[in-house]
Amino acid sequence: MQLHVLNHPLVEHKLTVLRDKNTPSNIFRELVSELVSLEAYEATRNLAVEDREIETPICTMTGKHLTNPRPMVVPILRAGLGMLDGMTRLLPTAEVGFLGMKRDEDTLDIITYANRLPEDLTGRQCFLLDPMLATGGTTVAATHYLAERGAKDITSINIIAAPEGLKRVEETLDPSIDFKVVVCGVDERLNEHGYIVPGLGDAGDRLYG
Ligand code: PRP
Repeated sequence: MQLHVLNHPLVEHKLTVLRDKNTPSNIFRELVSELVSLEAYEATRNLAVEDREIETPICTMTGKHLTNPRPMVVPILRAGLGMLDGMTRLLPTAEVGFLGMKRDEDTLDIITYANRLPEDLTGRQCFLLDPMLATGGTTVAATHYLAERGAKDITSINIIAAPEGLKRVEETLDPSIDFKVVVCGVDERLNEHGYIVPGLGDAGDRLYG
């Protein structure tokens, strides 16, 4: 697993405003979208491109163009939906699949209530969107759904992550999968309820509650 933490003053500023409990939903949504676009730039660094010949107004040249099959973007409902616009702004040709997953508040077990993915993800570069990687259970399960359809190149884009969850993902995932995590920050720890500390609260509630 490769971990990439965005280290940039603009990201730190936006993340601090996002964490502030006094930040209202409309600003929270806007900040999530902006942060995802910054993360997307980093997360797509290894997108496959091929040569393409074009004519500029001056001459012909060989440029670069994204290859087929198109990248796959998968927001994890509910909170991951708040990241979709920011991602597709940078990657407008991506195909979008959906996973609906929820943590049981008491056991922290994962309940999957929606799964709309193409049958075959062989050769596709896949991007999971979810604001928080806490215990890592959601990321492990979502990656399993992609991998069982043949995906081998998966990047998880999260706003924040807990060290415990990152460790679990690293220890659990099939090493044959090229797995990357891109985050704006890695927090201190999880509390006894499985919330990230200092965190940003319940992202789903702050986006849509
Ligand atoms: C939150 C968050 C992640 C998950 C992370 O979702 O958006 O999906 O928890 O936790 P984990 O790493 O311990 O699995 P939640 O269950 O609150 O659902 P929601 O997005 O519908 O609010």
